[in-house]
Amino acid sequence: MSSDSVTTHYARTGLSEAIRAGLESRGIDPTRATIDDLGPVDEFHVGGRAASRELAEHLDLAPDLAVIDVGCGLGGPARFLAHEYGCRVSGIDLTPEYIDTARTLTEWLELGDAVDFHVGSALEMPFDDASFDRGLMVHVGMNIADKRSLFQDVARVLRPGGVFGVYDIMRRAEGPLTFPVPWAGGSESSFVEKPEIYAEALEAAGFEIIEERDRHAFAIEFFDARRARQEQMDGLPPVGLHLLMGESAPTKLGNMVKSLRAGAIGPYEIYARKVSHQPS
Ligand SMILES: C[S@@+](CC[C@H](N)C(=O)[O-])C[C@H]1O[C@@H](n2cnc3c(N)ncnc32)[C@H](O)[C@@H]1O
Repeated sequence: MSSDSVTTHYARTGLSEAIRAGLESRGIDPTRATIDDLGPVDEFHVGGRAASRELAEHLDLAPDLAVIDVGCGLGGPARFLAHEYGCRVSGIDLTPEYIDTARTLTEWLELGDAVDFHVGSALEMPFDDASFDRGLMVHVGMNIADKRSLFQDVARVLRPGGVFGVYDIMRRAEGPLTFPVPWAGGSESSFVEKPEIYAEALEAAGFEIIEERDRHAFAIEFFDARRARQEQMDGLPPVGLHLLMGESAPTKLGNMVKSLRAGAIGPYEIYARKVSHQPS
């Protein structure tokens, strides 16, 4: 998928204003918003904050560790790690509007000393070698065909021994997907792969796999609970992922959930440690 098609797919103008309006309609002054007030819109992945918490608990975090969030979106996971664990988090994302919005949300929460955001590609990150102690990548690999190059650059910016957590939508069974989905408008721009492909690419880049977790059941539970909540509600919540996904949000989500319930795809976690030397 070219960089342009990724940014065209994700870009939305006026995102900060839309989030501000949503918060205000709930009686929340954005500059007094809490990290939990923003969670429904700044965690763009299956399971939202609960999923970020699970991931964080597997990263062996500690205050002041330097963390890289690859494909950080609006920066929800990055701010959560900084706020909850005292880490110093750098986020990088290809979509300039997301980075602009990430900076605005960070100002509202007064977390500017703990997180910073950069526009750039995960395949060529603007960071020195061995700059980070930990890394995470959440629902990004579905946009990147060349997983080996992706993980090579992640390995480059991590220090030896650094733990990297991936939480992506991966393939569970063959068969066509119905598009659009939240990450792509069509099959030409979707690169959903089996966990084995990720593991091979990680190992080739100099990682050892520590743990893998199939999160399919968690996702089904998450979407069942969401459906039950929506049945009780009149319309969409003022602050939610539809602000990011636009008018086709119900179709994108509906198609993803259909493939998820059919068992074709599902979220999956892989934790890997950078070994002290790169394989030759
Ligand atoms: C579904 S969103 C997830 C955002 C964030 N990780 C989260 O969980 O809230 C996918 C993000 O990946 C970013 N992305 C896709 N391909 C990328 C690449 N090659 N380099 C950097 N970011 C990329 C997109 O711009 C988008 O913000």
